[in-house]
Amino acid sequence: MANEAKNFQDLIAHCKEYGFIFQSSELYDGLSAVYDYGQLGAQLKKNLRDAWWKSMTQLHENIVGIDAAIFMHPTVWKASGHVDSFSDPMIDNKDSKKRYRVDHLIEAFAESLNKEAADALITQMDNLLAADDFAGIKKLIEDNKITCTISKTCNWTDVRQFNLMFKTEFGAVASENPEDNMVYLRPETAQGIFVNFLNVQKTGRMKIPFGIAQTGKAFRNEIVARQFIFRMREFEQMEMQYFIRPGSQKQWYEFWKAERKTWLENMGIPTTKLRYHDHVKLAHYADAAVDIEYEFPFGWKELEGIHSRTDFDLSQHAKFSKKKIQYFDNDLNEAGKPYGNYTPFVIETSIGLDRLFLTIISQAYTEETWNKEDGTPDSRVVMRIPPKLAPTKLAILPLLKKDGLPEIARELMNDCKNDFMCFYEEKDAIGKRYRRMDAIGTPYCVTIDHQTKEDQTVTIRHRDTMQQERISITEVKKRVQEGIS
Ligand code: GAP
Repeated sequence: MANEAKNFQDLIAHCKEYGFIFQSSELYDGLSAVYDYGQLGAQLKKNLRDAWWKSMTQLHENIVGIDAAIFMHPTVWKASGHVDSFSDPMIDNKDSKKRYRVDHLIEAFAESLNKEAADALITQMDNLLAADDFAGIKKLIEDNKITCTISKTCNWTDVRQFNLMFKTEFGAVASENPEDNMVYLRPETAQGIFVNFLNVQKTGRMKIPFGIAQTGKAFRNEIVARQFIFRMREFEQMEMQYFIRPGSQKQWYEFWKAERKTWLENMGIPTTKLRYHDHVKLAHYADAAVDIEYEFPFGWKELEGIHSRTDFDLSQHAKFSKKKIQYFDNDLNEAGKPYGNYTPFVIETSIGLDRLFLTIISQAYTEETWNKEDGTPDSRVVMRIPPKLAPTKLAILPLLKKDGLPEIARELMNDCKNDFMCFYEEKDAIGKRYRRMDAIGTPYCVTIDHQTKEDQTVTIRHRDTMQQERISITEVKKRVQEGIS
């Protein structure tokens, strides 16, 4: 019966129609690659954030969470290498003046090829990018006659690097040199963790290995920002830096690779829709890196990154701040090892909250058609969001607006709303109300009818199966709690 929707545009329209996601500043025709989360989207996003936060900080005794500021001292970004290296190779079409990230341009072209040719092209591209061979990349684009989507010509500039960080000015007093007041909007949350390493380690009396987790906004001036909330200019990251002994990075890298994939599977993402993709070209801070990719409606793409960041960041901050950032490892000292003081190595796990959101809704969005008992066709759109993540858990629906049914429904609502998100609705025919709840992913609906007044039972309807059963009204809360736990 289920027919998994493949039309990405339908999913985007659905998100708008039901209040999950709106284009930012839509009133003014929108702002490219910036989105607002509506009433249901904000709640679903919060549930995803909470699930990640709990898994990191509550379920791991040695991981703590922080909330660092978006603005940081400008030297942070010099030390981290972002001022010099956080850039992407871009190419401009001379006719349309449109700028492309070269990997996106080539990847989009590869989608029009058969699998063998596409794989060969992507491998060639990866090798050239790994060697920073920009002339080779331009030749690859020209040899394959890759054209601009607007001008349709192959008239390209040379490939150049463009920094992705947004800049703004700090303070009210304009200085002679504007660079003095310049601050960046952070392009990753990770640096807020690195610069607080000693603060957290000392005040929390943390012993290595331990982790610091953080969620928050990050900003990148993405040149090609497309595919809805997949690539945005303002987005949210959920990152965890795991501080370890030098030399143990291989072991912990493998540990977190496995741990994070399992977590995604526990979020209801099927194993068959997840895969690892090792990086060929490593970021300036990493000695190993892998993406966990999800098969989005538009193909396999990065969902989460696991990076072995060596001691790069802490060493750089020590160098630029001229402060000692080291850890005294008492256990090593007691074991008589040659060193007790060292700069910890780091394994990072980094997932975009918006990308996780897109994964969950891509997975959940389902168009179903079937024949009713009398042979007439029926259909529905249902968001099969895992109940523990669904924005609304229970809809409470009195069959009629009279005969004392709303009063009983309100009493149930008051009993449940402290424990989980409930929604009360007394308008429209019951079938229409069920369909609306399916469309927003509410796992349970309870209907209060005249029989409720006689025997204190209600109908509970299950979203995924559409099965209905009669249970005691006093059982409702427990049933829902069991289903969403
Ligand atoms: N601290 C490491 C780091 O930032 P990254 O691979 O650049 O690594 C980590 O980003 C994650 O952040 C990605 O796997 C992705 O989920 C998310 N992300 C990155 N850029 C994004 C964008 N423009 N829009 C939405 N999510 C993005």
